[in-house]
Order: sequence, then structure tokens, then C-alpha cells
Amino acid sequence: MCGIVGYVGQKQTMEVLLGGLKRQEYRGYDSAGVAVITDGGSLESAKKSGKLQVLVDHLTAHPLTAGHTGIGHTRWATHGAPVDVNAHPHLADGGKLAMIHNGIIENFAEIKQEMLEAGHEFLSETDTEVGAVLLGHLVAQTGDFRTAFAQAVNRFEGAFTVLAIHQDSPDLILAARHNSPLVIGFGDGENFLGSDVAAFVEYTHHAAAVGQDQMVAITPEGVTVTDFAGKAVEVERFEIEWDASASDKGGWPSFMAKEITENPDAVANTVRGRVTETAVDIPELATLGADTIKNTQRIILIACGTASYAGQVAAYAIEQWARIPVEVQLSHEFRYRDPVITPQTLVVSISQSGETMDTLMAVRYAMEKGAKTVSICNTQGATIPRESDAIVYTHAGPEVAVASTKAFVAQITALYLLGLQFAQVRGTLSEKEIARNISELQSLPGKIEQVLLVGPEIRQLAKWMTESPAVLFLGRHVGFPIALEGALKLKELAYIHAEGFAAGELKHGPIALIDHGQPVFVVVPSPRGSAEIHSKVVSNIQEIRARGARVIAIAEQGDVAVLPYADEVIRIPLADPFFEPILAVVPLQIFAMELADAKGLDVDQPRNLAKSVTVE
Ligand code: AGP
Repeated sequence: MCGIVGYVGQKQTMEVLLGGLKRQEYRGYDSAGVAVITDGGSLESAKKSGKLQVLVDHLTAHPLTAGHTGIGHTRWATHGAPVDVNAHPHLADGGKLAMIHNGIIENFAEIKQEMLEAGHEFLSETDTEVGAVLLGHLVAQTGDFRTAFAQAVNRFEGAFTVLAIHQDSPDLILAARHNSPLVIGFGDGENFLGSDVAAFVEYTHHAAAVGQDQMVAITPEGVTVTDFAGKAVEVERFEIEWDASASDKGGWPSFMAKEITENPDAVANTVRGRVTETAVDIPELATLGADTIKNTQRIILIACGTASYAGQVAAYAIEQWARIPVEVQLSHEFRYRDPVITPQTLVVSISQSGETMDTLMAVRYAMEKGAKTVSICNTQGATIPRESDAIVYTHAGPEVAVASTKAFVAQITALYLLGLQFAQVRGTLSEKEIARNISELQSLPGKIEQVLLVGPEIRQLAKWMTESPAVLFLGRHVGFPIALEGALKLKELAYIHAEGFAAGELKHGPIALIDHGQPVFVVVPSPRGSAEIHSKVVSNIQEIRARGARVIAIAEQGDVAVLPYADEVIRIPLADPFFEPILAVVPLQIFAMELADAKGLDVDQPRNLAKSVTVE
């Protein structure tokens, strides 16, 4: 939600602002705007509801005066409809000050009343404008932009990342963050700010994450960071691992199409550097310590959406390998159920963005209750990993499409590595068993490449289903979360009602949904795993086929038991049953994308969705 970019330096700021907003489009938004301190010393701004291109077209027709200091924003509406007047930046102090904001200023009503009584007027319905007007009011009172900014951010409550510029301080951008992301890009004679590093990766790989309740002042000469009381603090610098081209489409029709083909690399890069032939060693887990691993009595995986399904898949393997009870909790449910947490409880958060507010709040809750926490995350320097006791980064590269694909398979991979390392430290798997599972992990990229070849077959299938009012997905054991993920992909991409069920649940109600021609995907477990589970799923297929369902089975090569009952069979290569989900999900990702494409929908930025849900 919301993309922020700030630039001060020698370049034409407009080039940096629009490029930075473009690279952050995937964060989800419904309006965009920029503000510049011109070389003539005045502040100019422009903002438009709709896609970024609407603003670009407006600026082409009505360019702002050149300037080298500026801020830009893409807004995902919280307070106030997505219309021009509610877009950011918001101006104050007689148009000399501009502010942009990501989050929610929860005490905006109280501040607004105070400002109205002080004689100020408002143009928009937003909480952000209230913040800008307060800042302008304080500038007028104190006569100093920096002092006023510090006073303003100390008044705000809720979640906010704010950037502000003032025409009387032409080479300065002030910023602050509380419960919302902000990163710094360090240049030579120029400096950058962004919601994530995509804002400035084109210009610098030297970055740092701004911590909770910290303020930043950037000028062309340098960056200073303090706490909200003005005391200098050190920031954690890091090097961005990927370059701008990684966040380009690279000739693909969509980011989603590109990222599905990057599934193999996402697995390979997440494994790389963490295994030998017979042992797992995740360097980042060292901060957890062997004693914590040995003394862990319960693991709770917390996440939302697709990330939670990755947790559901991995829970089976981790529990079996490490002999520790593992449960999966939705982040937004976890802290309201008063869970039993002891120092021997390990809470593992799973988050591609590392900024999902529901998951961040759940991690903080778990730590307050005394749990150790590990973050599985795909975004360097994000808030959740920075606040956790240990981090296992996935190395899927930037995932730009809102619907998660390669990050999902990377999350399962990282969780499997964690499970194997726990089993290794606790001695619950032999070296031979560890080696076998490492070999399975290392064989996955090649097997996923084979699955990607079914794309054309699935495209035809999707064309047949564009009019389907609903699609059902069945799975059992590790295939059940894949059924859930397949349904979610279809919902969020093709806007078709879809539901995933545990196959065993069918006769307990859902079979009533089966009517003639009802499309049902069935994730068929390997007969080499549990013959019993396999035969039960084949029976389920018979039951729904007998009632008219159109069955699309995802089954391993050589599984002939499904042939008499399935209308279509999508084949996946043989793999250990715990590893088959990473193969079975790929046809479902492709199917959702192809069906959305066949319906003429935007597969990269589906309606109403944001890549990073930074509000609760
Ligand atoms: C997945 O396709 C969705 N975009 C959504 O469910 C996502 O997985 C969820 O919001 C969690 O996001 P995170 O991994 O960044 O925390």
C-alpha cells in the first residue's frame, strides 16, 4: 500500500520521482502525486487520481518547473475516496509546504478540530492533510521547519511514514516513520528515500532501513537520523542484492508471467549457500543459537494469505523431521486468541514484503509474551525481519506482481531448510535422511522447469473456463494448502469465486456444490507416499465425477489410477511427497494467470489489492 519516493541532489528530481513511483506501482494504489522545490525557490505540485500514467500525461501537458528536491507518492485510499483532492502531496503553510504519508494518523480528528479552531481550512477528507496543516501551523509558530516537523511527528498516533519539504529549506527532505516502512538510498552528492528499495535501486545499491520512531533529514551532502527526541541514532546499512533490471518486465507480457518462470531460480537461490551434500547451515540462524533450537517445544507459523499456505505446507515436514508440534496461525487471528506462549515457543513469521501490518503486530505480540521469533522474508531491511530474533531471507528476487508466486515456493523452501536444520541440531534425522532431503531440494528447480512446459495446455484449459461462475480445488495432506492457494490465486486474479477444500471434507458438505460441468481441480498425492491417501483421493474423484464434475487432476508422472476418472490430467515430475506441493502449485499459478488474461484483466495489479498490506 502506498509508494513513497524522495530525492535531493543534482538530477532533475522529476525523473527520479516518476521512475521511483513506477517501480513501486506494485505496492497498490489508486492515485499519484509529486511536489518539487523549483530552482527558482518555489514549491510546485501536481496530483491525479487513477494510474500513474494519468499523472505523467498531466505533467507532460503541464510540466512543473525544474527542481532538484522533491517527493512523490502513490496512494491506496484509506480516509477519503480516490479522487484528485485526496491524493498526496497535501499542501500547507500557504502552499510553501508539501507532505506525503503512508499509513493512518489515528488521532487526526482531534488534531483537525484543533486546527479548525486555530482558523485553518481543509480541502480534502484525508488524515494526511490534517498532518500537513498541523506541520504548517507549527512552522508558523516556531519559525523552524525541522523543529516543527519533530513536534508534528510527536503528535501523530497510529501508523505513519511521512515525508515533507518546505520551499524555505530548498535542499532538504524531512521524514519520519512509525509502524510503516521507510528506507534510505545513499548516493554521491544525492540521497534518496523510499517505501522500499525499488524506489531508488536504479541509482544506488547502498541502502539502510529506518527504524521504528526515527526521523531522517536528507540533503545532497548527507543523511542524519535521530529518534523522535532528536537524539542521533545509527541505521543498519545494507547492499541491495538485485538491480533495477530485476524489477523490469524484461520483455515478458506481465510481471506475473515473468515471476512464474522465476520459480526455479527462487528455489535454487534460497537454497544456495545454506547446504552441503549432507548438512544444512543457515548462517542467519546462528543468532537463534543451538540451545534455543534444542529447547524449542512448539513452533507457531504466523502469516497471511498465500504466505500462510506456505506455512501450512511446511508444517507437515517440519513436524515430522524435527519432532516438534507445529501449528499455523493467521497473523490477524493469532494475537486475539490469547495463545499459550512460553520461552520454549518459537514463532516463525512468513512474509514476502516483511511489512504486512497484521504479521508485524503478531510478531511484536509474540515477543512481548516471551517467544523467540524468526522471520522468513523476501525483502532485505524490511520491518519484520529487523524486529525478529533471527532471519531466514528467501532469495526470490523482487516480486512485483501483487499475486505471489515465486515468493511462495521460496517460502516453503526456506521453511524446509529451517526444519532440516532443526532436525540436524536435535538429532531427529540421520545424516543420510538430511542428505536425501537436501538432494530433493536441489532437484526441484529442474523439476519446476519441466512443469513450466505445461503452460500452453493450461492456456487452452483456461480459455474453456472464462465463463465458469465458480471453480473448486481439492487436496489432501500437503496437497490441501495447495488447493487453498490455487483457489486464492483464481479469486485474486480472475475475480471468480473459488474455494479450496480438504478432499476428506467433501462428503461432509461441499459435495452438495457439485453439479454438471462444475470444474474441480484435484491435487492428487503421490501413490509413493501414502497409498491410502492416494486411493482416498481417487475415490473422491470418482464421487464428484459421478455427480457431473469436470475434473482436472494434477498428478505425478506414471500415476494411472486417475486416468479413468479425470477429464484432464496435468502431469508433474516425480518428487518426494513433501516436495510435490512446490511442483503442483505451478500449474495452478499458470491457470489463474491465463484465465485472468483470457478475461482481459490486469494480472499484475488486480483490483482492490495491494502487494504489501501495511494497514490492519
Ligand atoms: C498473495 O497472492 C497475496 N498477494 C496475499 O495473500 C499475500 O500473500 C499476503 O498479503 C501476505 O503478504 P506478505 O507475504 O508480504 O506478508
